[in-house]
Amino acid sequence: MTAEPAPRIATVRVPAKVNLALRVGAPKLDNGYHPLATVFHAVDLTDEVTVRRARRFSLEVTGRFAEGVPTDHTNLAWRAVELLRDYYRQTCGVRTPLPVAISIEKNIPVAGGMAGGSADAAGALLAANTVWGNELMPGDLSAIAEELGADVPFALLGGNALGVGRGDELSTVLAQGQLHWVFCVSDQGLSTPEVYRTFDRLSGWDQMPTPETLPAWEEVPEPPEDLLQALRSGDAVEVGQHLENDLQAAAVELQPGLRDTLAAGADVGALAGIVSGSGPTIALLAASHDHAIDISVGMAALRPEVEVFVTSGPAPGARVVSTEA
Ligand code: C5P
Repeated sequence: MTAEPAPRIATVRVPAKVNLALRVGAPKLDNGYHPLATVFHAVDLTDEVTVRRARRFSLEVTGRFAEGVPTDHTNLAWRAVELLRDYYRQTCGVRTPLPVAISIEKNIPVAGGMAGGSADAAGALLAANTVWGNELMPGDLSAIAEELGADVPFALLGGNALGVGRGDELSTVLAQGQLHWVFCVSDQGLSTPEVYRTFDRLSGWDQMPTPETLPAWEEVPEPPEDLLQALRSGDAVEVGQHLENDLQAAAVELQPGLRDTLAAGADVGALAGIVSGSGPTIALLAASHDHAIDISVGMAALRPEVEVFVTSGPAPGARVVSTEA
């Protein structure tokens, strides 16, 4: 039996996420990262990453949110492919994998708190692994994903997942049914490190710990049991009652207009509204797809400067949707 030759081109679809709960502890003194207890939820708003064998490495970005996305090695998708190449050399005995051209169709808003950059990195990892002959198994890809950023492993996994540690230690969450959402996207992004810095200031974590405050510094957030129970029941109203985000106050301080978007969401009858991750995207929860459409129409009237997307979750993680020999 001869093995199938690896395809020349592979396209991977990869989802955006919203954190249904995001509990944040004090920054670790050694690396500045914050310990999290978070529930990730992948939604059906996706980027597509195509990787094709080429003469030299390159990156192009097209699509609705292409503007301003870097097309050099600073793009996380490029770093993903470089890191994968190093693993192929070091652990698979492949001397130098052939160069690839990466194309990203960018439908996930940039700097929106929806992990779009992490999604592209996850997509590039899976697509490059496919055209390089699938030498690495999913577990190995997750290890590389962790090195790229805290949200990258979840973009590979998808669905609903509890994340602890930096948010990259994942376990799948049992859940029933679909959740329907309206995402409200600001025209100005937010920098994740800046939101965390603001969170530290608001929480008093920008001071050095003292013997009195040290125990609180060392506390690690607990998983949000009530939300996990609501997800198991599949009741959207109950899920809405348990959405929470410790970074919300920081995001609202940096973009005060978010308060108006949240208030408008309540006015048009959303079950609940929350800042997505480090923001500034606001996720409004609906009872059904039709309800989400109604909310989106209401939001377009009340907040015409905000772009709205109707979507649902959980969505699958990164997956190969087409290949060409
Ligand atoms: O891991 P990633 O590069 O996506 O994180 C971006 C930034 O967000 C980090 O440089 C850090 O400032 C902040 N962050 C954090 N704690 C986490 C995740 C992210 O402080 N658990």
